[in-house]
Amino acid sequence: MNTHSTDTVEANYTPALGLRLLTPFYDAAIATFTRERTWRARLVEQIAPQTGMRIVDIGCGTGTLTRALKQAAPGAEVIGVDPDAQMLGKARALASAEGLAITYVEGFFDDGFIAAHGPFAAVTSSLVLHQVPLEGKAAILRSAFRSLEPGGRLHIADYGVQPGRLMRFAFRNTVQRIDGVEDTEHNARGVLPDLMREVGFDAVEETASIPTPSGAITLFRAGRNTTGEPR
Ligand SMILES: C[S@@+](CC[C@H](N)C(=O)[O-])C[C@H]1O[C@@H](n2cnc3c(N)ncnc32)[C@H](O)[C@@H]1O
Repeated sequence: MNTHSTDTVEANYTPALGLRLLTPFYDAAIATFTRERTWRARLVEQIAPQTGMRIVDIGCGTGTLTRALKQAAPGAEVIGVDPDAQMLGKARALASAEGLAITYVEGFFDDGFIAAHGPFAAVTSSLVLHQVPLEGKAAILRSAFRSLEPGGRLHIADYGVQPGRLMRFAFRNTVQRIDGVEDTEHNARGVLPDLMREVGFDAVEETASIPTPSGAITLFRAGRNTTGEPR
């Protein structure tokens, strides 16, 4: 399903590795430079998928997280959304090769998508927010909040505050070289938990900070009406 015209979509997002011609190398690069098995396993454990749970992965790319969620809980309903047709083509092929029934939607995580596919018990996103401009980060988090059912959770894995000189050096010389400084620096300054609170999330917490060759990847969890009275 394509929810936008190709021209509109391509003009409005950064390709997975900064340049479209690098897209075929995406999975290998992530495996090599991010200690992927460690942080993805922690993220899946944190989401704790179960039968009947509806989960959406924003900016699912080649679908590695969606497949891990479906493998962990075959009875969960897993949907991946991404504006990049090339990445989604790979996601669909890999899920099909593994016999995994996952829905992939081409487009942005916007009101149209939420009306068609929401609400969700869990919203997740990995390695997307660091490469999106500040207003885009807030817009994605606002949509994530709106798309959750009361008591639902947000689970994010992305580059956050870089603890110590080694991680700052690694982040500067990998992620910031590929995706630029403008969009990525907000993450390194710790903007994500502040934005989560601003758009209405409660119980915002950093659950892990995992050092990798490309900088520290932080795991966050937040809730929609998980504390106090419903809004
Ligand atoms: C670095 S890749 C991460 C892919 C995947 N989530 C992972 O963990 O491997 C970033 C992905 O986010 C998508 N993306 C970029 N901007 C986006 C936006 N505003 N909304 C949704 N997805 C976006 C890109 O198309 C790309 O597939």
